[in-house]
Amino acid sequence: MSVEPDRIKEFEARIARGEKIEPGDWMPDEYRRQLIRMISQHAHSEVVGMLPEGGWITRAPSLRRKMILLAKVQDEAGHGEYLYHAAETLGATREEMLEALLSGKAKYSNVFNYPTLTWADVGVIGYLVDFAAILNQTMLAHCSYGPYARAMLRICAEENFHKKQGQDQVIRLARGTPRQRAMVQDAINRWWWPTLMMFGPPDKDSPNSAVLIRWGIKTRTNDDLRQSFINQIVPELHELGLSLPDPDLHYDEAGGNWIHGPIDWEEFRRVIHGNGPCNKERMEARQQAHEDGRWVRQALAAYAARPAGGKP
Ligand code: 3HC
Repeated sequence: MSVEPDRIKEFEARIARGEKIEPGDWMPDEYRRQLIRMISQHAHSEVVGMLPEGGWITRAPSLRRKMILLAKVQDEAGHGEYLYHAAETLGATREEMLEALLSGKAKYSNVFNYPTLTWADVGVIGYLVDFAAILNQTMLAHCSYGPYARAMLRICAEENFHKKQGQDQVIRLARGTPRQRAMVQDAINRWWWPTLMMFGPPDKDSPNSAVLIRWGIKTRTNDDLRQSFINQIVPELHELGLSLPDPDLHYDEAGGNWIHGPIDWEEFRRVIHGNGPCNKERMEARQQAHEDGRWVRQALAAYAARPAGGKP
């Protein structure tokens, strides 16, 4: 008789007791597969996510803004490292994960497929995209898999700084000259829908959510997190005199929710399957960076393989 059902029952009882599953623990193959899929794509998102803002480091309007943006982009690289390491505790290798990204087999967040056309985009990414990431990652800090949950604690702390610096920029531009107000409103109009899509497809179209919720990897659904985001950010943007590019957006008194108009899930599917406006540019940049780092990897491998006591 297969021991699987008993082991899954005990595994699920552990999760129900709020225990963390650790790398050496028994886990269903599907639990492992789902975590490698999710964590590696999260890591890819962090590293690719450096590109849209990184291009503005040399064009920041002041030394202060340059230093803040430099720190933020550096943080994202560190988040990628934490997450690749978390995925490696499940048996994935860095080479496999990077090959999956560079070959286009793996996904990264839809939101990083869009161009950053003005300086206001940097503020709006920090305020909206990083806030969306905080809501999602705060949820993941309660994930049943120990290394992922612990990585989130450090990442969420840094994301809060990312959001605050973005919010500060948006407030200054919203209270600035008419040209600055127009610039930040244009950025909001371009980033609003891709940010709502960041939370994933509607729950009814989310093939992974059921098992992720069952095994405590996700503790909230895509739609639930998206609604939380909208309910918090809409009043704040309205307070700044900024509008949203959604003519159907309205407040539902009875339910206490801001109700958004239809999301273009066709665009979402196009983007996440490699047809986003900047995907070619993003992939070329990652492939070039991987190529440029080849000598470093070779030197480290040679050093690691040197005979015991051999000269470095
Ligand atoms: N971008 C790209 N692909 C997405 C996506 C998005 N925003 N949302 C969903 N997808 C993909 C899923 O990966 C899945 O494809 P796959 O099976 O080939 O992997 C498919 O669409 C179906 O979606 P599901 O809802 O079934 O998938 P999930 O249950 O995994 O939910 C998710 C999607 C909410 C993104 C979830 O994977 C998740 O919470 N991931 C961890 C957080 C993360 O990756 N965040 C990315 C942003 S990182 C970031 O914001 C950096 C910050 O510094 C700004």
